[in-house]
Amino acid sequence: MSNKPFFIDLKQSSEAEILELFKSANHFQKEFFFTFEKTAPVALIFFEPSTRTRMSFEIACNRLGLQTVLLSGKEGTSLEKGETFEDTIYNIAAMDPSLLIVRGGAHLSMQTLAERVGRPWINAGWGAQGHPTQALLDAYSIHKFRGRLKNERVLFVGDIKHSRVVSSHFELAQIMNYEVGLCGPAHLMPSTLDSSFQIFSKLEDGLRWATVVMALRVQHERHEQAVSAPSYEFGLSTKSLSHFSQEGLIMHPGPVNWGVELSPEVASDPRCRILQQVTQGVYVRQALVYHLLRGKK
Ligand code: CP
Repeated sequence: MSNKPFFIDLKQSSEAEILELFKSANHFQKEFFFTFEKTAPVALIFFEPSTRTRMSFEIACNRLGLQTVLLSGKEGTSLEKGETFEDTIYNIAAMDPSLLIVRGGAHLSMQTLAERVGRPWINAGWGAQGHPTQALLDAYSIHKFRGRLKNERVLFVGDIKHSRVVSSHFELAQIMNYEVGLCGPAHLMPSTLDSSFQIFSKLEDGLRWATVVMALRVQHERHEQAVSAPSYEFGLSTKSLSHFSQEGLIMHPGPVNWGVELSPEVASDPRCRILQQVTQGVYVRQALVYHLLRGKK
């Protein structure tokens, strides 16, 4: 993390800092640790829909003794009267929250806004640019359930091009030294890719290589023009997963479109850890909020 209290991406983070976060997450799993009873409330500003990220940040803050206030979507806010996203953020910041946790589209200049606001800030999902807390909780889950992260082979399957989760994993994999494999329909693959990534055109080849497979939702809301969902050859099913290690992990950042990227029977596969990922997300976010607010009143 940078010395500024902003968590916008993972580029400024070191392996030691991330391992320290994981250590704190382990601690928060065991006890609630009310720390911040006298700290100003946390502002959750979600211009885009969310279930997991929003709720797990709320629970993480509550576990730390922090109160939260929420702006969720446009309805009932002055955005409906033409106020800009930027002005909305400046006005909420003027109410003196201890921390802003913000989700928004690609049009937000999140880094510039955070600098201008000058308060602790967490990116809770920003266009296709990044979703760093999701990548962190995925990595923490892999570390926990596989016993290591270094040299793990993580295969992302589906809409690689529009996934902010994958964008953040590109950054995190370099820091934490795990391998990234990509597999998806040609029209949902980025036009340029780092040569360090393994690219698989056939799902079964990728599954034979991987120790972790992360299915991705087709991000229709970020497509410039309507495209069809990937054909089911890129969906994970009992049949395709017969090529995957029995000790491997099946993951998904959520929300899942059952029957598209995962067939329904995958939910009961013993390798499937999707709901456990969500659980770990609370502890990782609790650790991150704790580290950003430590020492602030
Ligand atoms: N993974 C994730 O960001 O889920 P939500 O959109 O429900 O927060």
